[in-house]
Amino acid sequence: MTLTEMIETFKTKLSPSKIIGSLEKAASFNDEPGNGSGENDQGVDEKNSPYIYPADNSVKSSGITRTTQNEKDPLIKLTDVWKIYQMGEIEFAALKGINLEICEGEFLVVLGPSGSGKSTLMNLLGCLDTPSEGTVYLNSEDISGLDESELARIRGQMIGFIFQSFNLIPTLSTEENVLLPLEFQEEDREIARKKASYLLEIVGLSDKKKNLPSQLSGGQRQRVAIARSLAVNPPIILADEPTGNLDTKTGDYILEFLDGLHEREGKTIIIVTHDLDLVKYATRVVYIRDGEIEKIEDRRKNGSSKKKEPDMN
Ligand SMILES: Nc1ncnc2c1ncn2[C@@H]1O[C@H](COP(=O)(O)OP(=O)(O)OP(=O)(O)O)[C@@H](O)[C@H]1O
Ligand SMILES: [Mg+2]
Repeated sequence: MTLTEMIETFKTKLSPSKIIGSLEKAASFNDEPGNGSGENDQGVDEKNSPYIYPADNSVKSSGITRTTQNEKDPLIKLTDVWKIYQMGEIEFAALKGINLEICEGEFLVVLGPSGSGKSTLMNLLGCLDTPSEGTVYLNSEDISGLDESELARIRGQMIGFIFQSFNLIPTLSTEENVLLPLEFQEEDREIARKKASYLLEIVGLSDKKKNLPSQLSGGQRQRVAIARSLAVNPPIILADEPTGNLDTKTGDYILEFLDGLHEREGKTIIIVTHDLDLVKYATRVVYIRDGEIEKIEDRRKNGSSKKKEPDMN
């Protein structure tokens, strides 16, 4: 079965799967020059990067099309957001009146115990779900009432997901998994392959291109998921327990990598986790418990960023 046939099969079988939906609508590069370039942490030759314009050395990005002129407006804003799950007669409020503003270029860590509502919040931030009550603004656009296809369009343009479980397609190779979002946006095949190669090189998996997910370690699978989430170069990266199943070394590698995307490319990173160690990367930490925000710690103001406090643990 060819990759294209396989995609068609998945579209039929899984539609309207949220994951495939988001891939399907994955935004094309709009070829707008973005910001930043520079040396790669893993020593990858960025001169040959399919993500960089040779003319001005700028990075290709899916970009943020702001609907307001005010760049200081929050990128994401939640106003009195409730998520109520209905199970037959019983209602369960997983989120209870969340108010939160996230600005462009933040590294936000949402911390909370199991069952506190982190993944539920993540689904709302990532336009995978809509609130039962309250309003979610993305880029000043109220997305609370949008239908699935409109949400998918926004997701595809703006958000890269690193899911709690890896969500790799088991019958596709490492390379094909990374190619998938590019295939959906009908990227030129040759360019798509270059992008996939480049991303796999960045995450240190060039020698595993032909392996199936089952032939990879957990950490390697997580790295494929990261490569795939970056394929369309989205401005926002959402990660749900990105280090959950990993050993400390691989977890650190992945966190350093995300930190690099934040520092060098100005990407907005949002991580939900119960792992206290991740706080050291954050510009702000949101503590959540029983569906409510307990407190928000601004680590830029109190000077406790990782640069000033490298040995927090
Ligand atoms: N579809 C659903 N229907 C009913 N209840 C749900 C549903 N999804 C989640 N919940 C409940 O909502 C609460 C929050 O779930 P959520 O997955 O957001 O927690 P979490 O903080 O991500 O936990 P973990 O750290 O274990 O991943 C839990 O009590 C969970 O049982
Ligand atoms: Mg969760």
